[in-house]
Amino acid sequence: MTQSNFEHFPQNVGILAMDMYFPSRCVEQSEMETFDGVSSGKYTIGLGQEKMAFIDDREDIQSICLTAVQSLMEKYNYSYSDIGRLEVGTETIIDKSKSVKTTLMTLFAEHGNTEIEGIDTTNACYGGFSAFSNAVNWIESSSWDGRKAIVIAGDLALYASGAARPTSGAGVVAMVIGPNAPVVLERGLRSTHMEHAYDFYKPDMHSEYPVVDGKFSNVCYLRAFDTCYNRYMTRLGKQLNKEHTCMDDIDYVVCHSPYAKLVNKSFARASYNDYLRDRENEKYAPIQQFGELTYGQSLENRDLEKACVGFTKAGYAQKVGPAAFVPKQIGNMYTAAVWAGLASLVSEVDSETLQGKRVLLYSYGSGLAASMVSFRINSDTSDIKEKLNLRERLAARTHSKPEEFAEAMKIRESTHNACDYTPVGSLDHIASGVYYIEKIDDKWRRFYKRKD
Ligand code: ACO
Repeated sequence: MTQSNFEHFPQNVGILAMDMYFPSRCVEQSEMETFDGVSSGKYTIGLGQEKMAFIDDREDIQSICLTAVQSLMEKYNYSYSDIGRLEVGTETIIDKSKSVKTTLMTLFAEHGNTEIEGIDTTNACYGGFSAFSNAVNWIESSSWDGRKAIVIAGDLALYASGAARPTSGAGVVAMVIGPNAPVVLERGLRSTHMEHAYDFYKPDMHSEYPVVDGKFSNVCYLRAFDTCYNRYMTRLGKQLNKEHTCMDDIDYVVCHSPYAKLVNKSFARASYNDYLRDRENEKYAPIQQFGELTYGQSLENRDLEKACVGFTKAGYAQKVGPAAFVPKQIGNMYTAAVWAGLASLVSEVDSETLQGKRVLLYSYGSGLAASMVSFRINSDTSDIKEKLNLRERLAARTHSKPEEFAEAMKIRESTHNACDYTPVGSLDHIASGVYYIEKIDDKWRRFYKRKD
């Protein structure tokens, strides 16, 4: 592959602004352990999760995206006419034809702007990354008209009761993309791996829940991680003119987070990949004994996993810890989860420390589609951190009992796809400025209101 000369593109294209919406209610994972009757520590240590956000029938994918877009525009004071593209990544499908994006157009139409490209993009948790790529590619193309793009990644991550339910959650990340950004996408490094797999999919249109082969999905995630990571490192090596690139060339890591433990395992596995590409290097002595495993064996070998987790313990705290904070507090957000990790990093590490740093980002969507890119922090991020205000907002949530969470799931199950329906969820759980469903009429048309 020839290295491109990127000089004719707009410079420093990346993330100019970020905001996040998550529900006002959450449950403690430790209380969920008791409620579900599993051993203490299974969700908090075994999965590495602390809290899980949830909603009842008052909100849906469109309402949470409306809230996120409106909040983004108000906080950053962008003019609605400054936006030329709006991409939505989601796997929460409420209509097989009409996109969530078209509903979001109500906000722009009010301000006279109907010339906005982009629609929804879907493949499990990968849709947000795809939406982001579409926005960047537009800015770097002959179609670009000089305006900014908005990327919305959002989902209700819902599972039937059972082993997967503690990996539920909900949230939306909204981003503004353009040139001269503080968080710049590095060019020429993106790597991708896609294949056919039935690890997690949603074939039943009568249910919000996926069909999921949890253990297989973990293996798919790790295999795709390995492939993307090695391809990325090869490209980075060419750019840096370095024979052995490795995790030392990366300052921070953000991975799609279905639950924190899998992210920890992926980061640990990167060290095994680094070792396989640099076998003579003495620094990998603690994992050298695993050098003769076949690839399949390496995915199953618990001693290797343990050795890699131990080997990367300090690195995890420093490079991954800041991005892991928010997903641990909310749970899976499917398409939004990886971007919530990036928002977490920008919030947990001050702008001065972030300057010049390289952030690796891994997006995984079952089915499967995965990509890896890196960002360079190019200028002040303190405004984004301030506007996200994540620690304070997360702490201000209502802590509900597991029974309330189970009840909310039951309501959603029994009213899924309902028409001529007025939601029963209390408006007390809807915060000021948040959109909610007022009613669904007899033609399945949804009507939303914003809470004063
Ligand atoms: N204390 C500490 N750890 C414990 C305890 C305890 N009391 N009990 C169990 N554990 C550990 C287990 O040892 C296991 O650790 P390991 O992963 O290192 O082996 C971990 O907790 C999970 O327990 P298991 O019994 O192995 O798994 P479980 O049947 O509960 O299912 C799973 C976990 C597969 C993640 C399930 O929640 C699921 O299917 N989630 C949805 C799918 C998913 O998120 N896949 C990830 C990629 S695809 C995507 O993003 C959707």
